[in-house]
Parts: sequence; structure tokens; C-alpha cells
Amino acid sequence: MNAVFLDPEVDDATRRRLLYDGQLLVYSPRASTLALRDFARQMTEQAFAPLEPRTAQHALSVERYVAILAELKPRFIHHPTVKTLLQAMLRDFGCDPAATYFDVPRLRTATDGGYLTTGIAYAFHPHRDTWYSAPSSQINWWLPVYDIEPDNAMAFHLRYWTQAVRNGSRDYNYAEWNRSSRQAAAQHVKTDTRPQPKPEEAVELDPQVRLICKAGGVILFSAAHLHSTVPNTSGHTRFSIDFRTVNLDDVRGRRGAPNIDSECTGTTMGDYLRVTDLAHIPQELIERCEQEPAATTLRAV
Ligand SMILES: [Fe+2]
Repeated sequence: MNAVFLDPEVDDATRRRLLYDGQLLVYSPRASTLALRDFARQMTEQAFAPLEPRTAQHALSVERYVAILAELKPRFIHHPTVKTLLQAMLRDFGCDPAATYFDVPRLRTATDGGYLTTGIAYAFHPHRDTWYSAPSSQINWWLPVYDIEPDNAMAFHLRYWTQAVRNGSRDYNYAEWNRSSRQAAAQHVKTDTRPQPKPEEAVELDPQVRLICKAGGVILFSAAHLHSTVPNTSGHTRFSIDFRTVNLDDVRGRRGAPNIDSECTGTTMGDYLRVTDLAHIPQELIERCEQEPAATTLRAV
């Protein structure tokens, strides 16, 4: 059973337990999320000026569009203000700042009508983040920069919370991916040949759930949920921010969502930064996660 919680008034430990059990949480915009949304808007609007970001694709060549994103996206990811806004947001959400670690937030685009679906604007096929070396305790935070609608949202395929999908994660190793593929994302304009852990059997995309929150609202879900990018037919580009968090006590205690079909190796654990001081996760824990198969994660208690 998967439930959708709207603005749940729970503490962070309870929230993590709900997420590890497969629940979806949706939060309305609040001051801390609106600050992040507005900063993203400001950067995006500057990058596309004098065009309006959501319709700029209709006035630009794909190559020009890619060039703008290739400059904008890394600038957003590494901007010190973005990190500060994220730290404030996680404190505001009641996450223990000494135990909560986050990775840098990505700015994503989903263009209308298949204009650009590869490389720097990769349209994600159905996947679990845990197929990509994410720990089972990873929580995904997803925030639309402008209002979304069902035609340009993200889809959850809830039946697969308990149903395994044969997939290519056995060939995926995060460190290997970083070495060989990631730097080349901006070069994949027309096609994308980089190896991705995809389903190796037919996935029934329907029924599916598309959560629609306001711009600056936040959707939280476990990294073990099967989700995908909805083919955008809305007429305009979707801009969204996403980032991930892990709680160190849960990593230590091997608490997280159940792993039912991920066989990847490696870990993304080295990417996370502590809310208090941007310190990395202790090296011995990263090494333990490198070596342990994902299946050793216990259920949340
Ligand atoms: Fe994902």
C-alpha cells in the first residue's frame, strides 16, 4: 500500500520511516523552498534572457539551447548560494543538521515535444535511483521551479514498490560511470549512447501517479521507487530542482527501503555533504557501502 501524505506534520525520523515504507510526501511551498525556487528562476531567466525560459525552446536551435544549459546547469549546481539555501531548507524541514547529508541540487529540464531528451536534458526512462548505486536510505527531494501540470510532471509506478523488475543495474558502477560517461553529457545532443541501468522486461507504466504541487512545493520519495519522466506534451519546458539526502544514523544502522531488484555495485555515498559544515560522510562508512551488496539493507523499524 502506498499513501500520499499532504503537508504531514511529523518529525524527521517519522518522515524517513514513512518514506522507507514507500509513502509519498508532498509539501506546500514555504519560505525556505520559495527562496530556492526564486533563486533558480533568477538564474534561469538570466540565462535565457530576453526569452522566457519555458518557451525559449521554440525560438532556439537545439545546439544553442544545449549551449545555454551547458553553462547554466553547472553554475546552478556549484553556486554557493544554492548550497546555503538548501542548508536552510533542510533545517526548516526539521532534519537534524549534524546527521543529514545532501548532494548538490540539480537543475533539470524536460522540453516539450521531444525537442531535447538526451545528454544534458536526459529524459529518464522508468528507473529506481537505487539501480544507480544510491543507498537504500536515500531520500529524493523534487521541487518544480514553475507550476507543473500532468503533461510535464514526473510519474510514479507504484505497483513496482513490491514487484521486482529485471534490469541492467548489475552492469552499473557509480565510480566507473563518473569516470567514463558523465563528463560527456553535453556532447550527447541527438542521441544518448551512455550505458544506463534500464528495465530488461516490459514495465506497465499504467496505472501511474503524477503528483502536481505548486512551484516551490516539494515531493519527497524513496530512492527505491520506480519513477520516470513524463513525455512532455504541455507546450512548454519543465524546470525542476532535485537533490538527495541521507541520514547518517540510518546509514550506520542499515535502515532504508527494501531492495528487491538492484544489483549495482559502488556507492554515491561520497557525494553527500553534511548540512552543518559540508563535511563528507566518514570514509569508513563509504568504504563499507562500496563493499556491501545493496541487498543487506534492513527494513526501517
Ligand atoms: Fe530518479
